[in-house]
Amino acid sequence: MRIAILPSEQEIARVAADRICRVYRDKPDFVLGLATGSSPLPLYAELVRRYEAGLISFARVRSFNLDEYVGLPRDHVEGYANFIHRHLVDLVDMPEGAAHGPDGWCEDLEAGAAAYDQAIRDAGGIDIQVLGIGSDGHIGFNEPGGSLASRTHVGVLTDQTRRDNARFFDGDLDAVPTHCVTQGLGTIMDSRAHVFIATGEGKAQAVAEMIEGGISARWPASVLQSHPDVLVLIDEAAASKLELADFYREVWEKEGASA
Ligand code: GLP
Repeated sequence: MRIAILPSEQEIARVAADRICRVYRDKPDFVLGLATGSSPLPLYAELVRRYEAGLISFARVRSFNLDEYVGLPRDHVEGYANFIHRHLVDLVDMPEGAAHGPDGWCEDLEAGAAAYDQAIRDAGGIDIQVLGIGSDGHIGFNEPGGSLASRTHVGVLTDQTRRDNARFFDGDLDAVPTHCVTQGLGTIMDSRAHVFIATGEGKAQAVAEMIEGGISARWPASVLQSHPDVLVLIDEAAASKLELADFYREVWEKEGASA
């Protein structure tokens, strides 16, 4: 993992966008993995800004979302496909049909999940995946206790995740779905590179377990320790429980420019 502890969300967005722009320069038809949640929003705003400035085009890009709720109406504003359209896809030059997400509405959800995994493979695999983290250590919606090798599947959300996400549903816990379809940890690990973003005190324990804990299904994001290309971008608050924060700062100062 390359770890950068940065002073602001804007700086995180800038470094994350630089990383994605490097992939774009090497491969203008790259496959982009997208995360929802509030953490990547400054990155998406920065990508839109760079698109408007003519620094990146999404005309040949295909995207794949990490996850989707099960049980929301298709047009629900907090549905993840709608979220990604609103914050990125509709604001850049991505062609119709290039943005994909797991199907949370089909009759046979497991078959839909398997088809989604295959669609990612058929697209040549994800070149760079944007990731956030839940306070319980989930990535995508891979909650504690799941297989580290799972493929896209139907999952159950923890109470902690549902409470965390209730803020998107006017604080109404009952309105937060109980189920989801998510890329599995094995699917996520197939991505060639990751850019991970976490901010705020509420993520500090999950971030510490991800970077410095053992690889364990208790903290699903810890599986990323065995991926060769993960750029971890966090603020001071999210870094506050890291034992070796000073060392990571030193390494980033010496080697970060080549990230
Ligand atoms: C949701 C998503 C995750 C996301 C997490 C954190 O549960 N399924 O992909 O990383 O929330 O969200 P936020 O960035 O809003 O804290």
